[in-house]
Parts: sequence; C-alpha cells; structure tokens
Amino acid sequence: MKRVDDFRLQLGKNELVPIIVGGMGVDISTAELALEAARLGGIGHISDALVHDVSDRRFDTEFVKEKTKFYKHNIDNSDKSIIQFDLGKLAEATRLHVGRTMDAKTGNGLVFLNCMEKLTMNGPRETLQVRLNSALDAGIDGITLSAGLHLGSFGLMAEHKRFRDAKLGIIVSSVRALQLFLRKTARLNRLPDYVIIEGPLAGGHLGFGMDWAQYDLATIVGEVAQFLKAEQLDIPLVAAGGIFTGTDAVNFLQNGAAAVQVATRFTIANECGLPDKVKQEYFKASEEDIIVNGVSPTGYPMRMLKNTPAIGSGIRPNCEAYGYLLDGAGGCAYINAYNAQIVLHPDGKNISVQDKTCLCTHMRNYNCWTCGSTTNRLKDTTWRNADGSYQTLSAEHIFRDYQFSVDQQIALPQAMPLAA
Ligand SMILES: Cc1cc2nc3c(=O)[nH]c(=O)nc-3n(C[C@H](O)[C@H](O)[C@H](O)COP(=O)(O)O)c2cc1C
Repeated sequence: MKRVDDFRLQLGKNELVPIIVGGMGVDISTAELALEAARLGGIGHISDALVHDVSDRRFDTEFVKEKTKFYKHNIDNSDKSIIQFDLGKLAEATRLHVGRTMDAKTGNGLVFLNCMEKLTMNGPRETLQVRLNSALDAGIDGITLSAGLHLGSFGLMAEHKRFRDAKLGIIVSSVRALQLFLRKTARLNRLPDYVIIEGPLAGGHLGFGMDWAQYDLATIVGEVAQFLKAEQLDIPLVAAGGIFTGTDAVNFLQNGAAAVQVATRFTIANECGLPDKVKQEYFKASEEDIIVNGVSPTGYPMRMLKNTPAIGSGIRPNCEAYGYLLDGAGGCAYINAYNAQIVLHPDGKNISVQDKTCLCTHMRNYNCWTCGSTTNRLKDTTWRNADGSYQTLSAEHIFRDYQFSVDQQIALPQAMPLAA
C-alpha cells in the first residue's frame, strides 16, 4: 500500500515531499506554518493579503495607521474612490513580510507566496506589479497566482531578473482557464512551473459559480492532464480541495497529480494564525454548519461557517484603513450594499447588511471563518480536553500524518497530560 512519502515532486532541481500547504489570507497561513512545511521538505505558502496590516502586527510598522490618517477626511464619505495605495509603502511592506520569512527558512522545502488577483486595490495593474516584483526582490522561492485569471500577471514580472528562475504557478478550476492563461502568456515563452487545480470542496473563494456542487476535482484533474498530454506540455499538476487523509492524497498522486495542496487540516495547527477561540469553532462545526454563499464582494462564492460574525454585520466600510477590494474604479460591492442600507436607515444605527460583507475588515479581525468542506472532520483528528475544548496540533504532526498514513487512518497526537 502506497503512502505519500513514496512519491516526490520534482520542481526544477528541487525534489520535494509532494505536500503543499495552501495560502490562507489574512495571515492564517502564517510564516511559522509555511516555514514548518518547508522544514519538513514540502512547500508552505504565506499570503500577501492585507500585507500592510500583517507587517504592522509583526514588525511594528505603522502602515495602516498612516494610511488611515492620510484618508481620515474621507471616512464619512460614501464614495471611497479617492483611496489609493502608496506603491513605495506597498513594496516596503511586501519586502518585510517576505524577506523576514525567507531569512528564517530552514530545511530543503520551499516557501511560496499566495497572490490573489482579486485584491485589486483601486489600481489592479500597478499594485499587482509591485506585489509580485517586491516578493521576487525579497527572495521568495515561488509565487502562486490565485483568485483570478491572471492573464497579464506573468508579463508584469517579465523584466525581473528572477522571472525565469523563481517557481511560478497558477491556480485554476477548469481546463478552459488554463488554456486561456497559456494562450495569453505564450509570447513570454515562460510556462508555469506548476498548475494547482482547485476543486469545489476547497476553503476560501471558489473558482466556480453557485453550481459548484456539480463539479468534481478528480474529473477536472483528469481533463487538465489529458489537455497537457495532447499539447505535449510537461507541467506538474497539483490537486487541491477536500483532500483530508494521506490515502486521499495518494489517490490523486496515482492518477495524474504530482502533488496535493491542503489547507483545512492545518487551520487548527498551533502555527496557524487563527485565534484559539476560532480554532475551537472549526473543531465544533458539523456538516450543516458549513455553507457556501455569495457575501464576498469579489463575486466569487465563498465557503464559511454559518455562525461566522461577518455574515449580516453592518459595519461601516473601512477602506481608509484597508480598501484592498476596491476595483479599478474605486468601487466595492460591500460599499454599495452598505450605502443602500444607509438610505433606508439614515441614522446608521443597527444596520445589518445581509447580501455582502466587508471582507477586508472581517478577514483582518478573523471574523470571517472561511473553511474547507471537510472542517466537520477536524474533531476526529485530535483529543478533547476535560473542559470540552479540543487540543490543537503541531503542523509537523499534521504534515507527517499526510506523509505517512495509509488506509484512511488519521494519527492522533500524543494525549496531553491532564492538569494535576
Ligand atoms: C481558512 C482558509 C483560507 C483560505 N484562503 C485562501 C487564500 O487567501 N487564497 C487562496 O488562493 N486560497 C485560499 N484558501 C484555499 C487553500 O489554499 C487550499 O487550496 C484549499 O483550501 C485546499 O483544500 P482543503 O482546505 O480542503 O485542504 C483558503 C482555505 C482555507 C481553509
């Protein structure tokens, strides 16, 4: 019987354990989590979502405070379109976040950056260009382009001296999206080093419509593999979404995938950025508590726990501090939904906005509990304490369980000694 450890992912000169811990913004997949995956010989992701805030929390910078002060005069204005990101500060924050992570790296694995295109920042092209190039400047091993089609993203890095040696990959949910990407980037003569195929059971945003349940990851992996074979393209495929055990992973590794990307099992790792009380919510969740809805202003369906505080919250849009979802014209679907409520309740009190959520603020405060479809199974991966709470696990334990388990088994951690 095969285990994940019987396989290796070859990326250029790197031979890796074929386990990739997916990017989880905002700072849910922390540097500490990514570094553990790299130390153990796999790949970990950090995310550049709300990078200024991540830098402020970790490195005592004051990027968010400074930006809020600069745009303070606009806080009561329902129109947020004047808000811009200072590109120099964006570069500085990215270099700090990425650079400090890379300085701490040990082991033979790699650390990648998850870069979501949907963070359009009221200047999609120039902000993305700065994010990508600054991450390369700071020595990131690779960049995974996610949440968008990224048709021009390779071009934005093409002049960088590391463009051909850093590992660059893309997340897609269909063969069509990959075809489009390859067609648009053909002139650069630079293929992606890996393609992550994210199916409908993943956490975060889904690359499907609300008909997501009609799709199946194994089928899409098969279609993409067939397409690449027909085109004689040798690009490693990574399967993601709903892979809960080592055996699940082996099934993909034996059927066309060169690696798996996993995330949900790591949401309750000690190294994961979610606060402990939120980790307990993930443990407690039952299948019925996990929903897919349309509250994300990005327009993509998103999976989350149904008791997440972000749903129905009517907070004032906080773009003066954040504003990462402002589109190229300075708009955001949450601002529209909020302003519509203000028309009905001009005093602004007790407002509840049901159809959209202020994703920047709620993700920043860990109040949007996005999760994968297997979250209800997390409770089966650990012990319960006498007070009813669940024991969180080390990232190493979870990683090695994926790497070595067989027969759908899940290794429980060593039970913590009971308090005297
Ligand atoms: C809490 C959470 C947050 C996530 N955030 C992001 C994100 O910011 N960007 C992204 O590309 N994918 C995100 N994902 C998707 C994961 O990177 C990963 O591809 C997917 O969840 C794997 O499926 P699994 O969770 O069933 O293992 C997130 C997943 C979870 C569980």
